[in-house]
Amino acid sequence: MDNPLDLDATISRRDLLLVGAASAAAVKIPPANAAVPAPTPDLPTSLAKVSLNVNGQAHELALDTRTTLLDALREHLLLTGTKKGCDHGQCGACTVIVDGRRINACLTLAVMHPGAQVTTIEGLGNPRKLHPMQAAFVKHDGYQCGYCTPGQICSAVAVLDEIKRGVPSHVSADLTARPLLSAEELRERMSGNICRCGAYSNIIDAITEVAGGAA
Ligand code: FES
Ligand code: FES
Repeated sequence: MDNPLDLDATISRRDLLLVGAASAAAVKIPPANAAVPAPTPDLPTSLAKVSLNVNGQAHELALDTRTTLLDALREHLLLTGTKKGCDHGQCGACTVIVDGRRINACLTLAVMHPGAQVTTIEGLGNPRKLHPMQAAFVKHDGYQCGYCTPGQICSAVAVLDEIKRGVPSHVSADLTARPLLSAEELRERMSGNICRCGAYSNIIDAITEVAGGAA
């Protein structure tokens, strides 16, 4: 004869399973008013159409929604001038200019920038017609291996624009006055761009020359 204690245990386990299944089902049912994203016609749900204007050229891309702007540039548009260093927002090698502001392209998804104007190192100049910042880096030996250089140059171009627009930095003494073009200001503003070759002082010389010329 069955032990009543065993029967209790069986019922208890069954009840427990039923309760668990009911809870799981309840979790899976979305609330009646939840916004359901409309599926994109013609594309698998993980792809999205993204329009980008890169270096003056319009592009329509079908990208996995998890694609970073950096991978969109390098892997899809084959613009490999922008470098992948840490892929974690810590080195600045992937710096590009988006709608006039410098950003780390590894830290942002391409789908977050529909219609954006993106400038990469390829859009600033070319070997026959260098951008003044590129020419200054060459003149002042602002690089050794060159891996960080595209990001440094994009950042430097954006920094001079920030200073021109009066955007203060953490070392600006007066937040209401136009920032100085001092080495201290430039070092602070360029601090997100790491150079493992240690070309920092030459980079500052290059930026200072361009800043002086532009002032
Ligand atoms: Fe983007 Fe290093 S690769 S910050
Ligand atoms: Fe080599 Fe900067 S030039 S990391």
